[in-house]
Amino acid sequence: MKRGYSLAQIGLHWLVALLVPVQYLTGGSIERTHHAVHMGMTPAYWDVAQHQVHNYAGMVIGLLMGVRLVLRLLQPPETSGPSSWAGRAATALHHAFYAAIIGQACMGFVASYLWFAIAPYHVIGSRIILAMVALHLAAAAWHTLVARDETVDRMVLPRRAQSAEKL
Ligand code: HEM
Ligand code: HEM
Repeated sequence: MKRGYSLAQIGLHWLVALLVPVQYLTGGSIERTHHAVHMGMTPAYWDVAQHQVHNYAGMVIGLLMGVRLVLRLLQPPETSGPSSWAGRAATALHHAFYAAIIGQACMGFVASYLWFAIAPYHVIGSRIILAMVALHLAAAAWHTLVARDETVDRMVLPRRAQSAEKL
């Protein structure tokens, strides 16, 4: 196992971190669009535009997480304390993120294009992911403000730059 993450892994992490909030900002437009159509009205232009952004950004997130998963399997990172309970909890949360986000993108796709009955599970998924992101942010803040360790640096500096710094 090598220390930290490659530049590609870091770039993909921050791209997904930027795109996930877009899903929360645009998700509500879908119900409004469907409601208008069911009432026989024309949905608002801005709601339809947000619905499109939600679908396409969601598919991009799913694909990017898939690429990240492949990269992670090819280049597994070394976590701060794999043998400690905190290290194991962090690894479990990271694994759960891959499953939850890829699963969420797949459910969204199925709800939009194949079988709308799955939509309530997509809504539940969005709540679970929100809780996971809150935990993840709290952990990042704890590492930076309390433990004052190099965890966040690992997701900022690619591993070659980090090892050069240690020389
Ligand atoms: C990881 C990516 C995604 C996240 C985090 C996400 C998140 C959300 C959120 C927060 C909502 C609003 C839930 C609410 O009403 O409270 C929502 C609704 C929805 N999303 Fe996504 N979404 C993602 C991907 C996708 C994709 C790829 C599609 C389709 C191609 C999609 C289709 C839908 C649909 C159809 C709804 C409406 C569900 C309903 O109103 O019952 N989503 N999503
Ligand atoms: C929705 C947004 C986010 C998602 C889905 C996400 C997901 C992930 C995942 C899956 C990993 C594990 C990478 C791996 O080992 O393969 C990770 C690591 C990490 N994330 Fe995020 N992240 C998000 C936002 C953030 C934000 C906003 C921060 C900043 C404070 C952050 C800081 C970190 C750090 C420091 C690591 C490295 C942890 C370590 O090496 O032990 N993440 N993230």
